[in-house]
Amino acid sequence: MLSQQELKQSVAAAAVEYVLPLLGADVVLGVGTGSTADLFIDALAPHRGRFKGAVASSERSAARLAGHGIEVFDLNEVRGMPVYVDGADEIDAGLNMIKGGGGALTREKIVASVAERFVCIVDESKLVEQLGAFPLPVEVIPMARASVARRLEGMGGRPQLRSGFVTDNGCQILDVSGLRIAAPAAMEAELNNVPGVVTCGLFALAGADVALLATQQSVRELR
Ligand code: 5RP
Repeated sequence: MLSQQELKQSVAAAAVEYVLPLLGADVVLGVGTGSTADLFIDALAPHRGRFKGAVASSERSAARLAGHGIEVFDLNEVRGMPVYVDGADEIDAGLNMIKGGGGALTREKIVASVAERFVCIVDESKLVEQLGAFPLPVEVIPMARASVARRLEGMGGRPQLRSGFVTDNGCQILDVSGLRIAAPAAMEAELNNVPGVVTCGLFALAGADVALLATQQSVRELR
């Protein structure tokens, strides 16, 4: 029986196999954040000479990439990326996701939006029928924390401030439990429209294009 860590390692290795044919001297990759993304960075490192560099979705991933000698580019320096590779906290069969367990949701959404393809790398524990068991992270401007929390309560959620945590953008995170997420794209649009919300951790208006799912038997591709 493979442990969750071993499953994460196998999907990270599969993601490297997935991106290898896309690499080239001018290619910049989009790289996500979290323990699975960390393993992807580690597995990518031996191939560093085969691509130009990466844009990271967090300071944490930028440091890990740089530590491996992979050049890190500011997104403003980059016109496009063939692929963005990142984990998720939950993913459904329609490739809608909850992300932001690591607090990097806003930069993740921005970098993913510039890439041609979002490749989500997860172990099978992340595949769910309906999103929402994992508390939905919502990044908020600090002065709007309480007003946004009231709006979330009005939608049936139970927001909790992620204590002692400040995002790379200088903002705060409300982790919201109890939401029924039957229509992820509609909820994403509604939440992103609340004044003071920087972004919510639903990735449904633009979900993943491909998911690599590590199971006990193999790594499966979902599209
Ligand atoms: C970070 C994220 C991560 O992709 C998500 O939390 C999954 O993390 P892990 O790979 O550690 O399970 O969205 O903001």
